[in-house]
Amino acid sequence: MGLFKSYGRLDRTYFKGLKEFRKVNKLFIKDLDLKGKRVFVRVDYNVPFDDQGNITDDARIRATLPTINYLLDEGAKIILASHLGRPGGKALPEFSLKSIARRLHRLLNKEVKLANDCIGPEVKKQVDAMQPEDVLLLENLRFHKGEQENDPGFAKELASLCDVVVQDAFGNCHRTHASMVGMNGAVSQSAAGFLLKREIDYFEKAVNVPSRPVVSIVGGAKVVDKIKIIENLVKKVDKIIIGGAMAFPFLTVQEYGIGKATVDENVTIKVLMINKLAKERGVKLYLPVDFVIADKFDGTAETKLVTFQEVPDDWFALDIGPASTKLFSEAMQNAKTIIWNGPMGAFEIDAFSRGTYAMVEAVVSAYALTIVGGGDTDLAFHRMGESYKVSFISTGGGAFLELLEGKELPGIAALTDKQGS
Ligand code: 3PG
Repeated sequence: MGLFKSYGRLDRTYFKGLKEFRKVNKLFIKDLDLKGKRVFVRVDYNVPFDDQGNITDDARIRATLPTINYLLDEGAKIILASHLGRPGGKALPEFSLKSIARRLHRLLNKEVKLANDCIGPEVKKQVDAMQPEDVLLLENLRFHKGEQENDPGFAKELASLCDVVVQDAFGNCHRTHASMVGMNGAVSQSAAGFLLKREIDYFEKAVNVPSRPVVSIVGGAKVVDKIKIIENLVKKVDKIIIGGAMAFPFLTVQEYGIGKATVDENVTIKVLMINKLAKERGVKLYLPVDFVIADKFDGTAETKLVTFQEVPDDWFALDIGPASTKLFSEAMQNAKTIIWNGPMGAFEIDAFSRGTYAMVEAVVSAYALTIVGGGDTDLAFHRMGESYKVSFISTGGGAFLELLEGKELPGIAALTDKQGS
């Protein structure tokens, strides 16, 4: 009984977050008067690099082009600001935005100047000299401790560079940092850019006002974190397909073996609550019925295909098998909306990638609005060359997950409310 009382508390927190989100009463870039204005655009250019320092995926940079192009058309002075990595408040050259400025220059076909810092007299001078349609990229915000500490002094310095703020860093909206939250209080207006609005709109369509049936696929390895997503989704969707390590606690409560994997006791308690709620709401939960197992966790392991009843205690279950992908594909047949987060197995190792790739094929063949986000899932679509067949791939990792958990994102909450709302 005590358990379900606390579950009720979670429920209320969730609905509070949802109400906030549903309002979508924030200023949008099109609400702003931008001509000749200094516009601080917070972007998330935290992109992956290879060992040679080359950008390996510029999707987050490309996704900001609609906002930048709109600002160019409006004759604004564009000050772009981002973090990259976690330099811990130090100006470390390996975290410089130099190559991002170069990539942006190429994508925009326009000069993009890189400032040598994000605050200070030099930067101020550079901003003062800007003409309409100039683009200046500030150096990594996290070279200053004040950014992550949401330091008011640092936030004020950032705010002094601009007339208005446009927020397009969806991927960082779960962070209460100076450029995400603190500086908003020191400017007259802060509004969502096109990227942020698209993320909000798709999320709204998929989770809050979806076309039904809604099928959610949840996989991946971070079970303790992701169980919260299932806890939230079970109140919203019609079917949940559970794969990857996420399936283990659900099998454990049915007393099936899960090989060498272990399950946190708190997660087991949550699984019991989820099962109960799913039953009450008529939500169907789908679990793998077969696994690819391995005697060790690497690509040279001996592997076997077994049913879910037959996973030996001293082996690892590292991918779902063909019977599971058939079951899951059939469960998706009538879906009108599909939301996917987290792979079906250790797909970074070829031997354990088939289940995830088979699910990619099933998702792109479905006649549904398809939304993918968080962590590695988009990588599976990119590797299969199927990204263009998905309705929407979120640019958010942690931010997308927190939305799925039903949390309010501080970076969105901090934007200026629309008048009269
Ligand atoms: C992300 O990549 O998820 C965001 O850019 C946030 O980065 P962080 O996890 O380093 O805060």
